Amino acid sequence: MKILILNGPNLNLLGKREPEIYGTQTFEDYYLELKSKYNATHLEYFQSNIEGELINKIHEVGFSYDAIILNAGAYTHTSIAIADAISGIKTPVYEVHISNVYAREEFRHKSHLSRVCKGIIIGFGLKGYEMAIKSIINE
Ligand code: DQA
Repeated sequence: MKILILNGPNLNLLGKREPEIYGTQTFEDYYLELKSKYNATHLEYFQSNIEGELINKIHEVGFSYDAIILNAGAYTHTSIAIADAISGIKTPVYEVHISNVYAREEFRHKSHLSRVCKGIIIGFGLKGYEMAIKSIINE
């Protein structure tokens, strides 16, 4: 079972960035916890602030991996190109958001990605990534 966790812009700042919204843990620390807990699963993590790099990564794994867990950050609300990349691959993509985007600004209420994702987990904090892994490996 091969799963890619793909994080978009500004998520490299987790732990420092708006901790009242996103918490105080860095993603690197959280990822280490996931790696040791799910050591029978091939888990990989990639983060980029650049839209094209996220698209390249989706293309790279999108015909061989079992799942992509994607938090595209603000590109969620703007990127038709990422939505097209998801439509163009075979691997199912699960959209995750740490915060409840529907309890925030109006511009966060629109996702270009939800329509082409297999599942969505929103507002459970970092735990949302683990919820996605659990659901994927139990399928
Ligand atoms: C986010 C929500 C987005 O609106 C925001 O731009 C982010 C993080 C989340 O995980 O809650 O960067 O995707």
